[in-house]
Amino acid sequence: MVGISRSAAVAAASTLVIFGTPQIANAGTSSGDAVVVDGTSFALNGDNVSYRFHVDNSTGDLLSDHFGGSISGSLPPAAVPQVNGWVGMPGRVRREFPDQGRGDFRIPAVRIRQTAGYTVSDLQYQSHTVVQGKPDLPGLPATRGSEDDVTTLVVHLYDNYSSVAADLSYSIFPKYDAIVRSVNVTNRGEGNITIETLASLSVDLPFEDLDMISLSGDWARERRRERRRVEYGIQGFGSTTGFSSHLHNPFLTLVAPSTTESQGEAWGFSLVYTGSFAVNVEKGSQGFTRAMLGFNPEQLSWNLGPNESLTSPECVSIYSKEGIGGMSRSFHRLYRKHLIRSQFATSNRPPLLNSWEGLGFNFNESSMYKLAEESAALGAKLFVMDDGWFGNKYPRDDDDAGLGDWQPNRQKFPDGLDPLVSNVTELKAANTSTDLRFGIWIEPEMVDPNSTLYHEHPDWALHAGPYPRTLRRNQLVLNVALPEVQDFIINFVSNLLKSADITYIKWDHNRGVHELPSPSADHEYMLGMYRVFANLTSRFPDVLWEGCASGGGRFDPGVLQYFPQIWTSDDTDGLERISIQLGTSLVYPPSAMGAHISAVPNQQTGRTTPIEFRGHVAMMGGGFGLELNPEELDEHDKAALPGLINLAEKINPIILNGDMWRLSLPEDSNWPAVLFISEDGSQAVLFYFQVRANINRATPWVRLQGLDAQATYNVDGVGTYSGATLMNMGLQFPLDGDYGSKVVFLEKQ
Ligand code: DGJ
Repeated sequence: MVGISRSAAVAAASTLVIFGTPQIANAGTSSGDAVVVDGTSFALNGDNVSYRFHVDNSTGDLLSDHFGGSISGSLPPAAVPQVNGWVGMPGRVRREFPDQGRGDFRIPAVRIRQTAGYTVSDLQYQSHTVVQGKPDLPGLPATRGSEDDVTTLVVHLYDNYSSVAADLSYSIFPKYDAIVRSVNVTNRGEGNITIETLASLSVDLPFEDLDMISLSGDWARERRRERRRVEYGIQGFGSTTGFSSHLHNPFLTLVAPSTTESQGEAWGFSLVYTGSFAVNVEKGSQGFTRAMLGFNPEQLSWNLGPNESLTSPECVSIYSKEGIGGMSRSFHRLYRKHLIRSQFATSNRPPLLNSWEGLGFNFNESSMYKLAEESAALGAKLFVMDDGWFGNKYPRDDDDAGLGDWQPNRQKFPDGLDPLVSNVTELKAANTSTDLRFGIWIEPEMVDPNSTLYHEHPDWALHAGPYPRTLRRNQLVLNVALPEVQDFIINFVSNLLKSADITYIKWDHNRGVHELPSPSADHEYMLGMYRVFANLTSRFPDVLWEGCASGGGRFDPGVLQYFPQIWTSDDTDGLERISIQLGTSLVYPPSAMGAHISAVPNQQTGRTTPIEFRGHVAMMGGGFGLELNPEELDEHDKAALPGLINLAEKINPIILNGDMWRLSLPEDSNWPAVLFISEDGSQAVLFYFQVRANINRATPWVRLQGLDAQATYNVDGVGTYSGATLMNMGLQFPLDGDYGSKVVFLEKQ
């Protein structure tokens, strides 16, 4: 199915090139070959996308031709740019991998400080290879697929002046309209060079009227959707926290100004990385828009000795003609099937009860057991003991001591964890024969100065020579780049898992990095951290791993590779959560979101919402649970919980595997609504919310999407209607008061 050709040099190209218009005789069609190469013209074809570029014979540069809806055959001639004034030809064309210093004044994708000190590069096409499937990236998380799922084109570039090689790797997953790119730079010279900038993806779109959408926020306010016009000059965002962070997510969407949730063109870009990153968008004088995602140059200064290489993380680009919603659904499917490696990616998750908001640090073995008993009585199937169970010389009784000392606290657990775990796992979830599972919280990458570990290994904490080690939440970050730190973490987590019947881990991470020993220490940390994640998750595949970082401070594709679910936010207020979860769903599958019902007034916002509202919001996340002490609930709320847990379990398979349609957004409407449709289309579930009471105003119609217009659906409690009626006319749900909510099942007849 793949047109494979090798070309040793540009001169050997069989392609006829009128500037920027390579004539591929057979470039594939929408249903044709995934990768088609004709001489030095390249086409990547998905079901509904084409990505085309070619080598400029006169310069050896890679020039972009098209990234958008499917095209086929040869391309019409493109006008040769006028070259007047200071900007030469390199600054007036669309480039695949813009290097620095030769007249392209836009942001570069790569900046290399050569042995002699200059930062000019001239990376020219040498050859290419096509492979079925997709090779793994060394030490980095990456999408993966079989030879039937994905095809990879690697274009080899070389700078004859500096002896630097760069391989651009493009993989296409045709079913998802996804093109994944990463870059590998190798020093083939004899001196040392330094990589100062390296973008995984750089793309020049031939449009000047675009909007950009990003996900921004802060602690307990993660991933709010921001949409703004792309203006002349550079606009961007990123993280220098050392991690993907609450502040900005490594994700960008470019859309036409008229694009909506359900219509229009959208280009989504998602960086598979957990460290500091940079996203830049530049509208240049020529009227093109350049988008770039990759390492943050503020935290990169990577030395390469002779024959050493640096591989960038990969960036996944998805094109959709079906609006922002269409783009999101493709990301969800791709990430569920080809990114998350856990067996739990799409298998039902046990409803859990987590002790954090209910007990905080204030517990011992018997109060923890009592909470577990109540969890089981409500119908929970997993009980999670959160922070506060460890540390002896420096007991973890609050957040200023103990991190690093991962031995059970003897005051709280005189005989270790096993008696508690054994007793808890003998409990049965209400009205079932299912044993309650036991899970535990850890924060392995951190150390408190008040700990034995810190006193024994002060050098294990990240620090910059003599500078003071500044604290956040009273703690320091371990330098996970050090093999001895990696081994310490692998050993203590393995021993913990072997010490008792623990089948779930919540892996927390509660601060960013401050004093780095070198600008590159962040990426070195990431490589160490991914090694630890890979080692533990492959050794303990039956454990359900949940990522967490002060809520959703590391909700990124890098973590998702290893942990199938991530705690979405420490803000458990139902209303806030609608925005946070729908923002997160722009790129991440709902299956990946940990979402819990907490008590009211909410601990973060002080707001009181009905338990049904909180429950319905939480069950839109794949990792549904409770985060409360049932003893402190009023009768109504306590009585409602078993029913809500049952409902969440019934819905869970559709949330985990289905398609999500955001029907109306909380930022636009008093009636946010979301529809999930099962993978086979036979079932659907509608979530409908009313934020404020509706006084003397018509009840709005909610028009469904994504159904089969010809089919009929039984709408639970309402009647049977055609898909066309449900999509074109809709349904009405009058609700009372503030924070109303409704969950409605649909069955295809
Ligand atoms: C931050 C997490 O987001 C919370 O859920 C909780 O686990 C605390 N850390 C515990 O310290």
